[in-house]
Amino acid sequence: MKMYRCRICGETYLGAEAPSHCPFCGAHRDLIVDTADFPEDINVVQLTEIERADLDTAVELERSNARFYLAMARRDDNRKLANAYKRLAAVETEHCSLFCKLSKQPKPADLREPGDELGSWDADIDESARREHRASDLYAEFAQRATSPRLLEVWTAVSAIEADHIELDALAKRYI
Ligand SMILES: [Fe+2]
Ligand SMILES: [Fe+2]
Repeated sequence: MKMYRCRICGETYLGAEAPSHCPFCGAHRDLIVDTADFPEDINVVQLTEIERADLDTAVELERSNARFYLAMARRDDNRKLANAYKRLAAVETEHCSLFCKLSKQPKPADLREPGDELGSWDADIDESARREHRASDLYAEFAQRATSPRLLEVWTAVSAIEADHIELDALAKRYI
């Protein structure tokens, strides 16, 4: 057994080797490091006004997406899909927590409360893909104006994770 830390969400992973993706936030393997190499002050960053606004936008986006997925996870007509979106809700919740840490703000009070879904798996999965495209594009844009190595790392990593979720939506369609 070894101890690893994810540079994106900061969670610890215990296992024989680093996983291909962080099970908590979805970060890719190159961001999962030996615990000894994880700087405890990793999220202490100076923010510009624009970066603060970008983080606020990201907190709200992740809050909305996490609550949308919690609503999908509540449906009992397809437990395979419901469980997959429950996992996705947990991933987006991690992203929201990370953005709150970076901008030193409390987590939204309703982060773990289900929002509204659209009433059919087909429509919900299309809506999910739309949300993930928006998130991935937006974070790529934020990465371009990041003024610190840490914010550049975070926006680049989370943009790639949201792009992975678009692939998941395509896969989910086969389980309807
Ligand atoms: Fe992570
Ligand atoms: Fe996310």
